[in-house]
Formats: sequence, structure tokens, C-alpha cells
Amino acid sequence: MPDVAAAPADTRPYSPGLEGVIAGESSLSQIDGEAGALRYRGYPIGELVEAGSYAAVAELLWTGDWNPGAKLPCQPVPDAVMTALRALPRSARPMDALRTAVSVWGSVTDPSWPATPDQARALTAFSPSALAAFARLRQGLEPVAPDPDLDLVAGYLYQVNGRAPDTETARALDAYFVVGAEHGFNASTFTCRVITSTRSDLASAVVGAIGAMKGPLHGGAPSEVVEQIHEVGSPEKAEQWVRDTLAKGDRLMGFGHRVYRAYDPRAAALRKVAEGMEHRPEWLELAIAVEDVALRVLQEKYPDRPLRTNVEYYAAPVLMGVGLTPDLFPATFALARHAGWTAHAIEQGANNRLIRPDVRYVGPAERPLPR
Ligand code: ACO
Repeated sequence: MPDVAAAPADTRPYSPGLEGVIAGESSLSQIDGEAGALRYRGYPIGELVEAGSYAAVAELLWTGDWNPGAKLPCQPVPDAVMTALRALPRSARPMDALRTAVSVWGSVTDPSWPATPDQARALTAFSPSALAAFARLRQGLEPVAPDPDLDLVAGYLYQVNGRAPDTETARALDAYFVVGAEHGFNASTFTCRVITSTRSDLASAVVGAIGAMKGPLHGGAPSEVVEQIHEVGSPEKAEQWVRDTLAKGDRLMGFGHRVYRAYDPRAAALRKVAEGMEHRPEWLELAIAVEDVALRVLQEKYPDRPLRTNVEYYAAPVLMGVGLTPDLFPATFALARHAGWTAHAIEQGANNRLIRPDVRYVGPAERPLPR
């Protein structure tokens, strides 16, 4: 390898992973990582879970208005989307099926730029039907048409299972959707805003967001939490298991967060929901015991780097408790995040500036091409 001179140093500030960089302005959600607080348009997440519903929270994000009686029933799946879903291999990942469905939905509806609350409602109400249709098709079952009398979350479970959930089950999953609805400039939301900033349409922005969320560093932890709790087996084995796992250099799923240094307020809200569920999984008690040990051992190992429980830890028992299989967890998270993605697309479109950062060049300085 010839000795090649580097290009002159670019001394402008650079933060790998854009950590700590302010890359936009938003009035949708506020995260206080030190205090462990999350608010949507100023309202604390715990209060929204207790007194709101996903439909009301989605409307709040799209329009800024709080209407606790808001409803958003699931919408039917257009024929072209159903044809595409039927053509997928049964082994396809639900996230890939959802990404495909939204892409075809965009071809059918051709949403114009900038995104509007009506477009956001239509897409958010379509996607649960499409995912539920694929969940049935891959089992060799026919899709079930949406019931217009059911609100979005109950309507999703109805289309997955072919029967309406009881009120408590629907309420538990609704709480999960509320806490999953929005979370600032995470990777998928930022992707959505970058795509929107080019004046591309809402469906394209959400297809990109789904692609970003598919990565295991973003949306994949709750099913791994289930596996880890099963591996532990019993409360007496928790301490040894936690120590062995950390000694191997593995991570404890459901702990740590890029932004939160305190207990994730979404985890606190979902723990309450999980504990109150009649159909909670048997291993919930074990999960609570493992959490206590894990927090103690993590604190011992990383005294200067607070690693606390994150949302995924208690998402796991809620999603299991409502009867979803772990391979549907990431795509169900994507359904919940539709409200935030689409609200960000509306916000970006209303005050648009093409998102186009710079890159620091670290390759060779100019040199002649070998001939
Ligand atoms: N278990 C064990 N050690 C951990 C954990 C964990 N869950 N999280 C962080 N650490 C350790 C790291 O190994 C690192 O140690 P080192 O300095 O010895 O290398 C130190 O703590 C700092 O970790 P970072 O990687 O800097 O933390 P970062 O902010 O980049 O990562 C993340 C955040 C990806 C969530 C991380 O905590 C993690 O992998 N957690 C487990 C997976 C998980 O629960 N993901 C869901 C996140 S919530 C969400 O996305 C909705």
C-alpha cells in the first residue's frame, strides 16, 4: 500500500452517531433523561396512559388538540396490498411484510406533499389491518376484515385472532401503544424526517422509518427479554445468571438507554399495566425478581454509568399477556410508532428545510490516478 497523504484536517465539530447534536426542533415530545420524564406536548406519559387512549394521543400529536373521546377504527386493506401480502413467503419477517404493505399502500393512495393529519389517520389506521392480515396468511388462515365499531388497538387484536379482545386486554395493549407512540429524534423518526425533508411522500417516509426500526439496536429487545427470563428459570438462579451474562460480555436486554439515565418512565407505566393484567404471564414475578438483581449488579459494575430498566423490559410481559407471539413484537412496536412518525412528517413539512449534513472526509489528499 503506497504511503498516501491524508486530506487536510477538517476541524469542525463532529459527534459520532450524532450523539448530543441538536438536529431539529419539535413540539411533539420532551424527554428528560436525567429525571426519567417523557411528555407528549407537555402532558406526562403516566397521565396519558391512565386517562388517554392511543387514538386520543395520536390526535394530540397530529393536531395539538386533546380529545379523550377520539376514535380511530382500523381501515380495510386495499386489494393491491392484499395481493402483495399473499405473494410473500410465509417465512417473511412481519417487519418486512409491514414495510411492503406500506409501500404498496403508498402506490395506491399516492399521498401528496406535505403530509396532513388526514393522511396520518389513514396510514395509521391501515397498517394494523395489513400486519394482522399477514399474521393470518402466514398461518394459512384467511384475513379478517376490520370491525368499524372497534377502536384501533382492539381492532388490531380482532384481526390477528379473529375474535375481539376483552376490555382489559385491549386496554393493556392500548397502554403499550401510548408509550410507544413517540420518542423524539430516535433513528427511525429521524429517518422519517430526512425523507420528508426532500418533499417525498408520507408512505415513503414511513417505509424508511420501518427499515430503520427493523435493526436490533432500535426495535428488537422485548422478544430477547422473554428469552432471557426463560433462561434464568427461577429467582434463586438470578444473581448467578446476571453475573455470568455480564462476565461473558453479553448485555442484559431491557436495561440501559442512550438518553435515560434514570428509570425509563415508560417502563414504570408498563410495569403497572403488566402487574394489573389478569392474563399476565406466569414469569412476571420472576422478571421483577431478576430486575432487582440486575439493577444491583449493573450499579456495582458501572458505578459511574447509570444503567436502569428501559421500556422494552416491561413491554415484554404486556405483549405476551395480550397473546401476541414474540415475532410480532417489533412490528407491533412499529404500529404504535406510526403516530409519532407521521406527526413528525407533518411537523417537518410545515417548516421544511432539506436535511443535508456534512461529512468529514478522512481519505487521501488529491493524487494522480495511476496510469
Ligand atoms: N447490559 C450490560 N451492559 C450494558 C448494557 C446492558 N443492557 N447497556 C450498556 N452496557 C454497558 C456497555 O457494555 C458499556 O460498557 P463498556 O464501557 O464496558 O463497553 C457501557 O454500559 C456503556 O454502554 P453504551 O453502549 O455506551 O450505551 P449506549 O447508550 O450506546 O447503548 C443501548 C444504549 C443500546 C440501549 C444499550 O444500553 C443496550 O444494548 N441495552 C440492551 C438492549 C436493549 O435493552 N435495547 C432496548 C433499548 S430501548 C429502545 O430502543 C426502545
